[in-house]
Amino acid sequence: MSAAAGGDAPGSGRYGEAVFRPGQAGEGERIDFGALAYDDITMARLRALGAGPGWHCLDVGAGTGTVSRRLLEEAGVASVLAVDRDVRFLSTRPLPGLDVLEADISAPDAVAGRFSLVHARFVLMHLPERDRLISALAELVAPGGALVLGDAVDLTSDRMPGTPYSAVMRAMWQGLRSTIGTDVSWVPSYPHLLRGAGLGSVGAEIHVPPLLPGSPISRFWTDTWERSRAAMLATGLVDDTVVDEAVRYLDSDECAALSAGLLTAWGWKPAEGPR
Ligand SMILES: C[S@@+](CC[C@H](N)C(=O)[O-])C[C@H]1O[C@@H](n2cnc3c(N)ncnc32)[C@H](O)[C@@H]1O
Repeated sequence: MSAAAGGDAPGSGRYGEAVFRPGQAGEGERIDFGALAYDDITMARLRALGAGPGWHCLDVGAGTGTVSRRLLEEAGVASVLAVDRDVRFLSTRPLPGLDVLEADISAPDAVAGRFSLVHARFVLMHLPERDRLISALAELVAPGGALVLGDAVDLTSDRMPGTPYSAVMRAMWQGLRSTIGTDVSWVPSYPHLLRGAGLGSVGAEIHVPPLLPGSPISRFWTDTWERSRAAMLATGLVDDTVVDEAVRYLDSDECAALSAGLLTAWGWKPAEGPR
């Protein structure tokens, strides 16, 4: 592979520019397919952690705002500040308690305040400064509050059968890394990184939705592959024929593969003791 093809070097582009542009038709629907696949799991965890009345929450890289809205409408939290570098999907439907802020979370002091819950799902994996950002997000947690990070875990391994599906998944991760710096190899370290950011009682879990034809997660991958096709082809690992084959396979009863999972990790900021 040539250096130009990307190799393992992280890219200097940004999420939402070279790939996953919010202005590209259907990008909101792609995010919603991911939300449909994972929101119930995320909400169950946030509620088990205590998210409810009286909580002030920050949803970082809130996307179309499905988690922000469910925190307000189902969990009954007091407020949610939904932050995204592009808020076009968040601004369409106002909701009492929902505040929207357009900001790049990697900029210093992008968000002010202290929150009972700081949540970021499928965001840090795309940002090369993720290590620094975990510390910055931990700073935004109020004493006694929680930081919850959710990101993808890649479950492909060298022993996986060489199907178009596994080839395309590998090419996708490598292509996104070369183009915008996406790196999911960090994700299993989140419990350790949360501890390192000064948080305690750290926990983590993984959910892997089944790849059934027509399911939200299968449609999410098909759409994600289309949007990252140029980045995948540039790796030299796949060509258009292989990508098309993987798309057909995913939508067929022949499909027998494992999706990437969602790792959710959380940690608590110590409450302030009596003075
Ligand atoms: C894959 S979507 C996830 C959306 C939502 N968190 C979810 O799980 O459904 C990633 C979101 O993060 C936002 N994002 C990416 N980089 C960002 C940054 N530097 N600052 C703020 N938001 C960012 C994107 O605009 C997009 O809405």
